[in-house]
Amino acid sequence: RLLIIDFGSQVTQLIARRLRELNVYCEIHPYQNVTGAFLKDFAPKAVIFSGGPDSVMREGSPRPPSEVYDLGVPILGICYGQQVMMHDLGGRVEAGEHATAEFGRAYVTPTDGSDPLLAGWFLEAREQVWMSHGDHVAEIAPGFEVLGTSPGAPFAMTADPARRFYAVQFHPEVHHTPNGKTLYENFVRMAGFEGDWTMAAYREEMVQKIRDQVGDAKVICALSGGVDSSVAAALIHEAIGENLTCVFVDHGLLRLDEGKEVVGMFRDHMNLSVIHAEEQELFLGELDGVSDPETKRKIIGRLFIDVFQKYADQIEGASFLAQGTLYPDVIESVSFSGGPSVTIKSHHNVGGLPEKMGLKLVEPLRELFKDEVRALGRELGLPDSFIGRHPFPGPGLAIRCPGEITREKLEILRKADAVYIDQIRKHGLYDEIWQAFVAILPVRTVGVMGDGRTYDYACALRAVTSVDGMTADYYPFTHEFLGETATRIINEVKGINRVTYDITSKPPGTIEWE
Ligand code: XMP
Repeated sequence: RLLIIDFGSQVTQLIARRLRELNVYCEIHPYQNVTGAFLKDFAPKAVIFSGGPDSVMREGSPRPPSEVYDLGVPILGICYGQQVMMHDLGGRVEAGEHATAEFGRAYVTPTDGSDPLLAGWFLEAREQVWMSHGDHVAEIAPGFEVLGTSPGAPFAMTADPARRFYAVQFHPEVHHTPNGKTLYENFVRMAGFEGDWTMAAYREEMVQKIRDQVGDAKVICALSGGVDSSVAAALIHEAIGENLTCVFVDHGLLRLDEGKEVVGMFRDHMNLSVIHAEEQELFLGELDGVSDPETKRKIIGRLFIDVFQKYADQIEGASFLAQGTLYPDVIESVSFSGGPSVTIKSHHNVGGLPEKMGLKLVEPLRELFKDEVRALGRELGLPDSFIGRHPFPGPGLAIRCPGEITREKLEILRKADAVYIDQIRKHGLYDEIWQAFVAILPVRTVGVMGDGRTYDYACALRAVTSVDGMTADYYPFTHEFLGETATRIINEVKGINRVTYDITSKPPGTIEWE
């Protein structure tokens, strides 16, 4: 296995991701935990030093234990990791000045192309890389040579081939170093990794980790039916079986047959213990007459926590709460931002619950990205129809029903949404679209059907492409598709007599209507 020593870079997890893509097993450990004894015990086959925000010239700045250089295994230092390596091994690092700091895109050109690290690299005269450094290496350590330079970093790529120590100033793990994966690939091959690690192995390791963390304790999990909580629940169930209880809160704002499907699948198909909290009356009662979007969200968020707590209290001795937190959620919550950001929508989750209930957290997906969670879900035997599902917001149909929510409108909305999604599936478009749904509008319009006048609701179809939900564009359906779908909805759903298509991108719009 490979050890990544984390010096606090924002993108350390991306290194792990690149390695997983190469089917190499790695673990990230914060530098504070990596002692000489730890190294002996871990026995890494290779080590990577991550980047980090500190300066090696600062007294007390992060360092690896000196034993790491005596392991006889390849080491790759990235950015701050390069500076650490140079500093530790007898080179010199200088504080950043404006002229030498580099941020963003840069180009590295070769000085020596024969090192095995460079196979498949420098096929073009230069390689685009992503830099982000203030300090820089002023003098390389004895034994090192230069493999590549950039205008701001004369020692952009350095190597001590005899010891197989490599150090680069840029970040090969990020998207903006397009050929970065090649460097990782060369590095791990050099270290003797076969690339035979798989998601199946990850599953086994995670199961063991969960057992180690939780022991005989009981765990509760808020199951939403979304991919993340579903995969987390399936994985934890595999680890601890009956000691996991899931609570599925049905707030009456779910899609057609959703409650039945989710509970049926987990209870009957996967054998999990699931409490179906049928609290439709409570939620719809409190939402009655409320039309302000933020008020709706707040009511739903508050009730969700109350309800979850009520059911969780019935589970004796529960001491852990499972959450399907993914790596992007982790990084968003810790990353630096330019200033206090504005709340556009107060998102709904079970945050705050663990402290309130005195629960510890189990978050088995914290290291994974969405596509990896899907792969793990497949590995765990969740059906594809579940794994490939579009995201569905916690407040559910409430935010797709602008204005006051009524049972009648929800009923109409559910039917229209089911027809729309059926159309999308029939045309083979489901997987190309990030998210698609119907919103029922708070207006009624006049129409004519047969020989009669109608006065029914208008609805809007929404379908967007996106990679992360942060920005989005509307999906370019053909007019034929839109026409056919409108006809089907109006014919099949009583209560709707007009269909529109929402062609707003995000920004300036948002994906949901509220
Ligand atoms: P917006 O509407 O903000 O949505 O462009 C971006 C993505 O987030 C989902 N969304 C939510 N998900 N709780 C959630 O779990 C929420 O309160 C919530 N609000 C929006 C939305 O469906 C889209 O995928």
